[in-house]
Amino acid sequence: MQNGIIENYRTLREELQAEGVVFRSDTDTEVIPRLLSRELARFHAGGSAPSGGLLLQALQAVLPRLHGAYAFAVVWAELPGALVVARKAAPLLIGLGEGEFLCASDTPALAGFTRTILPLEDGEVALLTPLGIELYDAAGDRVQRTPSLLSGTEHVADKRSFRHFMLKEIHEQPETAALWVARHLPEAELGAAPHAGLLVALPLDESVYEGVERIQILACGTSRHVAQVGAYLLEQLAGIPTSVFYASEFRYAPPPLSPNTLTIEVTQSGETADTLAALAMEQERRRAVADPAYAPRLLGITNRPESSLGRLVDQIFDIGAGIEVGVAATKTFLGQLLAFYGLALAFAERRAGGATGHGPEQLRQLAAGLRALPQQLRDLVDDHDRRCEQLGHLFADTQDVMFLGRGINYPIALEGALKLKEISYIHAEGYPAGEMKHGPIALLDARVPVVSIAVPGTVFDKVLSNAQEAKARDAQLIGVAPECADAELFDTLLPVPVVDELLSPLLTVIPMQLLSYHIAAHRGLDVDQPRNLAKSVTVE
Ligand code: G6P
Repeated sequence: MQNGIIENYRTLREELQAEGVVFRSDTDTEVIPRLLSRELARFHAGGSAPSGGLLLQALQAVLPRLHGAYAFAVVWAELPGALVVARKAAPLLIGLGEGEFLCASDTPALAGFTRTILPLEDGEVALLTPLGIELYDAAGDRVQRTPSLLSGTEHVADKRSFRHFMLKEIHEQPETAALWVARHLPEAELGAAPHAGLLVALPLDESVYEGVERIQILACGTSRHVAQVGAYLLEQLAGIPTSVFYASEFRYAPPPLSPNTLTIEVTQSGETADTLAALAMEQERRRAVADPAYAPRLLGITNRPESSLGRLVDQIFDIGAGIEVGVAATKTFLGQLLAFYGLALAFAERRAGGATGHGPEQLRQLAAGLRALPQQLRDLVDDHDRRCEQLGHLFADTQDVMFLGRGINYPIALEGALKLKEISYIHAEGYPAGEMKHGPIALLDARVPVVSIAVPGTVFDKVLSNAQEAKARDAQLIGVAPECADAELFDTLLPVPVVDELLSPLLTVIPMQLLSYHIAAHRGLDVDQPRNLAKSVTVE
């Protein structure tokens, strides 16, 4: 079993073939057992009997030959009952079960078997036998480390009465929000240090906020959409210039260094290879600058504080959403989003609104709006579950869908399109509604449904008139909007309550998730494990 890519496998393969080794597959993985067999044969010729120590020695001799990223486990027919594992730039966890050890690349796979885990550090190897675990570092020295306990695995192996984990996780979002409010937004203003007089209590050191002039956020996929909402909040609420990057782009073309910059990584799994590599690169180039203003300041937002990310950053914001099994992120999206609401409020409070004009009273109103969120989500999830289920069949033959949003809801349009692509395999595009006229409008006709997110605020009328333009091209219009006279424009309405525009993404995302879910479920697709996708993408 191997996760990752052995980049120099062709060279290794040719070397072994030249020695007469016959390969059974074209995979990069096969060079690993072949190299190990060669080492073991050498030891055997030297008269050594099969033992765990021998297998470990062979592994340690082979690892320096492997370039790239890997996490793998090896069994040896001569030594049943022993297993060796190794990792480099790809995650590997050992689970300590009852009378058994388990190996996995991510925690959800272990849930249901054990809550006690031992994550391997980069370059480490381990020998697992009925006698226990022997752990060694990259230099071959024995390492002693206490296993840790996973949180939030209680319900994971159980879909309860839900048809899919994704649907269960969508329904868990009111609870995610309620927990967040209870933890970070207590009813009364905070009395005790270090949060005295403040609205939000975050599990972060005060140094996170001090002297920050710019913020850059690195993320992939759904987490990047969260980051885009986050950037909007940090700029509009706290007045801090914020840029969002695809981690996979940033790592090869970072912008010029700016001083006093906080770098935030957003990754639900904490294991996304591109995000981790971008982070490592940023850390390295900042460490190379003598001026302390350029020193790396790293904050990670994740659902897995025990992940590789957790071990790399200075400070971690654990969103505490509990294990998410569905590959398409839903409750972790909401959890990460809430982390940014907390962060933006915390920065804004410390800057007294700064240049954005959000004074203490407006911040208090936003906090009150957030406290109302769990109940609003409860109503919304139940209501839209029913509504979207009835819409599922309308998409039986649909091949393209357009999602439109503006301002703070533009990333939600992107998320709606991504969710639909991921699980229903329908082509979908998320677009800023005002950009439709510059190209995409040419695609519209009666066969292309348009989902338009229109909530009262700065761009309400604009979005409605963009939707009107789509309707004039015979597109079927689905509106995510409040029940009001303007909403009569839509062929179908997925109503959302009226809230402060800044809070609206927390609600408008719900119909996006449920619409995708029901379209995919109606098509009979494997919603929780969509083709070609993985929950943690641990390779570049
Ligand atoms: C994969 C998943 C996506 C996820 C992305 C980033 O592609 O299928 O759902 O958004 O990775 O994952 P992360 O763990 O970094 O948030």
